[in-house]
Amino acid sequence: MTDRAPDSATDRPTGRPDRRTFAIISHPDAGKTTLTEKLLIAGGAIHMAGEVKARGAARRARSDWMKIEQQRGISVTSSVMTFDYDDITFNLLDTPGHEDFSEDTYRTLTAVDSAVMVIDAAKGIEPQTRKLFEVCRLRSVPIITFVNKIDREGRDTFELLDEIADQLQLDVCPMEWPVGMGGLFEGLYDLRGHRLLLPDAERRFSGHVEPVDGLDDPRLDSLVSGPALEKLREEAELAVGGYAGFDPVKYRNGDLTPVYFGSALKDFGVAELIDALRDLAPSPRPQPASPAPVDPDSPLVSGFIFKMQANMNPQHRDRVAFMRLCSGRFRRGMKLNQSGTGKPIAVHSPILFFAQSREVADEAWPGDIIGIPNHGTLRVGDTLSEGTGITFTGLPNFAPEILRRVQLVDPTKTKQLNKALDDLSQEGVVQVFRPSLGAAMIVGVVGQLQLEVLISRLEHEYKVDARLEPSPYQTARWIASDDAVVMKGFAADHRGAMASDHDGEPVFMAKDDWELGYVSQRNPAIRFTATKERV
Ligand code: G4P
Repeated sequence: MTDRAPDSATDRPTGRPDRRTFAIISHPDAGKTTLTEKLLIAGGAIHMAGEVKARGAARRARSDWMKIEQQRGISVTSSVMTFDYDDITFNLLDTPGHEDFSEDTYRTLTAVDSAVMVIDAAKGIEPQTRKLFEVCRLRSVPIITFVNKIDREGRDTFELLDEIADQLQLDVCPMEWPVGMGGLFEGLYDLRGHRLLLPDAERRFSGHVEPVDGLDDPRLDSLVSGPALEKLREEAELAVGGYAGFDPVKYRNGDLTPVYFGSALKDFGVAELIDALRDLAPSPRPQPASPAPVDPDSPLVSGFIFKMQANMNPQHRDRVAFMRLCSGRFRRGMKLNQSGTGKPIAVHSPILFFAQSREVADEAWPGDIIGIPNHGTLRVGDTLSEGTGITFTGLPNFAPEILRRVQLVDPTKTKQLNKALDDLSQEGVVQVFRPSLGAAMIVGVVGQLQLEVLISRLEHEYKVDARLEPSPYQTARWIASDDAVVMKGFAADHRGAMASDHDGEPVFMAKDDWELGYVSQRNPAIRFTATKERV
C-alpha cells in the first residue's frame, strides 16, 4: 500500500520497537470474538479457533463477579492480547460488552491509539457500537471499519456506508467492495490494489487472490459470473466517485473511516484488516498531559493507569493495575513516581500480556500495557513516571446510566460506608454523588456489573452491609455555566435534583432522558456534560 500515514513506523528513531495498540468496538454478536481469534491465529498467538471463544464463554457463564474474579487468570489475560505480525507487535485491548459493561470498558478506549469498529452486514450500526464510538470520538481515536458476515445475506452496501456516514458523522472510504453477499457471494474486490479475493466452495477464503488490471480487465469475466461482474463494475464506479478518497490525516483525526469488508468466520478480509492496521493505524502517539504532551520518544518512562482488576481474594486488597506505557523503555524493578502522592513505587513483578498466558515482563515500550500488582495504592487515572511533575490528562468519568441510593442496614456504620465509597470511587469502581437534599448517598455506574462489585466489596473488604435501592433519578450530567448567578438560580430551582460529585462539582440528576432534554433546552446558559475529566 502506498499511503502509510504520517509519523508511522518509518519515522521512529531506531531502537524503539513498533506497536499498534488498538481495541475492537462492536455490538454483541457482530463477531468481535471470532475476529479476535482470527487475528490471533494470523499472528501465531493461538493455533486453534475456539480458544478465545472458550474463554469468553467461561466468563459469561458465571453471573456473579466474584466467580469471574476467581477466574482472574482468564479475565486478566484476555484483557490484553498480544500478537506479532511483520515485525510489529499488536496489542489488542478487550472492551468487554454484554453484562460486563462498565466504566472500564470506556476507559480502555483512552489507552489505545486506534480502534476497529466491527459491524454486522445485516444489522448496521447498533446501540453499543454507537456508545463506544462516541467515546472514541472524545479522544479523536482513528477508526477502521470492518463490515463482517458478508458470507450471509446482508444489507445493500451503499445503504450500510451511508448509515455509518450519517449516524456517526464520519466520512467513509470503502477500500474494498463485496462481490455479492450471502447466497450470491462471489468474493471481495480490492478497490485500491485491484485484486480479487475468491472464495472456495464453502465460501471460505483459502488464499486464492487474482491480481487484475482494474475493473475493465477482461480476465474478470472468467473469475466471476456475468451478473455479479456487471453489478460490481457499476457499484464500484459509483462508490469510487461518490465517497471520499482515503486521506491519512483525516483518518488520524478521527474524521474519516476506511471501510473493509469480510467474514471473520470464513477468514475473508482478515489479512487485509491486519495489513490496514499495520499500514494505516498510528504507532503510539504523543499523549495529552500536563504541563505538555508526552512524546513516546521521550527517554523517561511514563504511563497512566486506565483500569483496575479487583482482587481474587477479597480479604486481601491485591489488585492488578493496568498501565499504558507512554514513553521511555520500561525495565523490571524500576522505581516510578506516583502522581498525587509523589511517592516512588518499585515495580518488581510487572505482568506483560500474551494471548495465552501472563508472563513477568523484563522490558516494555510505549504502546505496551503492563499489569502492576498492588494492594490498593494505585488508582485509575494515576500517572506513573520516572520524572516528576507530569500528569496525563483526559481520562474521563462518564455520566452514569444507572443510579442507586445506598441504604445502610446498620446505621452505626456510616463512617465505614463513607470511607468505603470514598476509596471505591477513587479507584474507579463507582461514582458517588451526595444529594443536596437527603442523607443517603447515590452511586452511579454505567453497567450493572459495577453494582454487584460494589455490594460484594463493601461486604467483604469493608464489612459494611448495605442495600441498593432504586433512585428516583436515572441519569446525571455535570453542569457548568459562565454566569455564576445563573448557576445559583438553577441550583435553587432544582434543589431536589442537585448533587455534588466526589470532587464537589455540581451534578444535575434527571428522571429520564426526556426530562434531561427538557431542562437543558430551557436552560441554554447552562452546559450539561456527559463526561468529566478525572482530577
Ligand atoms: P461477539 O463476540 O461480537 O459477541 O460475536 P461472536 O464472535 O461470538 O459471533 C457471534 C455469532 O456470529 C457466532 O455465531 C459466530 O459464529 C457468528 N459469526 C461471527 N462472524 C461471522 C461471519 O463472518 N459470518 C457468519 N456467517 N457468522 C459469523 P453463534 O451461532 O452465536 O455461535 P457459534 O455457535 O457459531 O459459536
